[in-house]
Amino acid sequence: MATKWVIKDKKKAIYWPSEKMKKKANMSDASIYKKALNNPKKFWSEKALEALDWSKKWNKVYESKPPFFKWFLGGKLNASYNCIDRHVENGNGDKEAIIWIPEPTNEKPVVLTYKDLLEKVSRFANVLKSFGVKKGDRVGIYLPMVSEVQIALLACARIGAVHGVVFSAFSAESLNDRLNDANAKVLITANGYYRKGKLLDLKKKADQGAKGSPVKKVIVIKRGEVKTKMSKGRDYWFHELMEKADPECKPAEMNSESPLFILYTSGTTGKPKGVIHDTGGYLTYAYWTSKWIFDLHDDDVFWCTADVGWITGHTYACYGPLACGATQVIYEGAPNYPDWSRFWKIVEENQVSVFYTAPTAIRMFAKQGVEFVKKHNLNSLRVLGSVGEPIDKDAWMWYFNHIGNKRCPIVDTWWQTETGGIQISALPGIGPFIPTVAGRPFPGTNFVILDESRKEVKKNEGGYLIQKPPFAPGMLRGVWGNPKRYEKTYFSDYGNKLYFTSDGAKYFDKNNIRVTGRVDDTMKVAGHRLTTGELEDAIATYEHVSECAVVPEPDKIRGQVPVAFVVLKGVKESEKITEDIIKQVIEEIGPTAKPKQIIFVNELPKTRSGKIMRRILKKLVINEPIGNTMTLQNPESIADLKKKTNYKRK
Ligand code: WTA
Repeated sequence: MATKWVIKDKKKAIYWPSEKMKKKANMSDASIYKKALNNPKKFWSEKALEALDWSKKWNKVYESKPPFFKWFLGGKLNASYNCIDRHVENGNGDKEAIIWIPEPTNEKPVVLTYKDLLEKVSRFANVLKSFGVKKGDRVGIYLPMVSEVQIALLACARIGAVHGVVFSAFSAESLNDRLNDANAKVLITANGYYRKGKLLDLKKKADQGAKGSPVKKVIVIKRGEVKTKMSKGRDYWFHELMEKADPECKPAEMNSESPLFILYTSGTTGKPKGVIHDTGGYLTYAYWTSKWIFDLHDDDVFWCTADVGWITGHTYACYGPLACGATQVIYEGAPNYPDWSRFWKIVEENQVSVFYTAPTAIRMFAKQGVEFVKKHNLNSLRVLGSVGEPIDKDAWMWYFNHIGNKRCPIVDTWWQTETGGIQISALPGIGPFIPTVAGRPFPGTNFVILDESRKEVKKNEGGYLIQKPPFAPGMLRGVWGNPKRYEKTYFSDYGNKLYFTSDGAKYFDKNNIRVTGRVDDTMKVAGHRLTTGELEDAIATYEHVSECAVVPEPDKIRGQVPVAFVVLKGVKESEKITEDIIKQVIEEIGPTAKPKQIIFVNELPKTRSGKIMRRILKKLVINEPIGNTMTLQNPESIADLKKKTNYKRK
């Protein structure tokens, strides 16, 4: 019988850590919350010293000039040194850092020890240097989950270059926008990647994206035998450059507040924004959240299934676990290749002990049935995590019962691209673990739930999730090239001293928070963050579209899916136009953004000032009463809208 890491509250669906779990956990003392909040600056100052090797200690721990703030001012360190060198120096060079699993089952895993990682990262850092990349320069990364992903990120960090990863399923247009915004001179990509048994071409998209951008050099990782066109003088094969490069490269001494990376995310307007993360604060935060929330020990094997294109892939498939000196599994491909038992096969074969995935994936697995899970022995698991969107009770229970076999705690981790690391979650050694309740603000972070009039809400009343200063060290430091947007997005609704998360939330009890979802125009499609604005921009560029509005529709598996209301000009609706519009969205953003439905209507409902009333459209797609239409400029539009959304009632 495998160890039970949790026990159930006899009366309620609430779980607590077992004595064994408490004993093993890196953090099991609940007084830490109070201690940390009494003096967060002191707490983080001690934690930063404990977690990382600094070449120079800071002279000021926190500084705030609202809405801007800084941590560890004057401190110096290098992120790649902290993720690699120091583990080698401490005698852990032969420990497995990364076990990379290719999608094709006839290929062997690639194992990189910390020593291997040191050599490869150093070589690649020298390659980047030879291309003229200097401290502070931006490097674009357009990579699927190939085995070189962490090498690319850490090589940038080693020389103080700022990486900007673009999700490989994003379109050439999205890549181009981001390369331009970041002014990246070098791009790292791959010629292809495996997905559901097929070798897909990536280089072609990368070429289109690099065209008309500031990119002068493209480094191409060879993943498979795809026919690849290389531009002379611009494109270079990664493996050829690596062979010739010097295997030693001294890590650059960076200021704690130097940017480590930019990651673009969807905001309330159409144009994605480049969220900036710094070096020392981010890494301190990534370290402690990995250590306490995933409870990483020396003998753990951690698997975070997120793609590097998202913040979760940055913090929990690279910086956090590596800073902790942990062993991680990275998987290249699809969860259902060659069948739906692939994930569980990987867990069993690699004795994964901590597993972190998204509710969408859990719902997909649940739909396929437990027989795929039952084929494998999952007794190595001891902590399960969820991220990306609220997890519903059914998915939570399925995860708990069938993956954790009623033995493992589930940490439902709430955070954002902007927060850099998990901010609300239970800790495995403290608990409780409650379905649909994310849990408690991480020690040293401070949250309140306020209503519109800035009054704190009572238990079970809905409100807005707000972070209070001092802001956690892992928080964003700005929006690339656009400080005004930073202030407007996060620090205007509740003043410049409170961070507005754009999420709705409730107090479940005095300690624990239930996050209910976005209150802005953001939707989470299979855990991927998209805004109605960027979708509408993509649709509106189609020549026959006069106007459009996109709203989310709840979906059993994907959480939400986009539905588009479109007013055409000069042409009649047809299947061809529907197809063209969908194609347009895929080309401009990527397949993640594919609308589920295009609904052609005569008019969109508008306020007297001409604003589209998305609230009404949202109600129509969920088949709920639309409420008051008195303030509409065109109440007559409603009859047509109701008729067209009738498909919902069938
Ligand atoms: C949502 C992902 C409820 C939330 C790390 C947030 C969640 C947005 C949870 C950020 C959770 C993430 N429970 N909602 N455990 N985790 N969210 O930037 O709406 O891709 O604001 O970062 O995801 O999405 P992002």
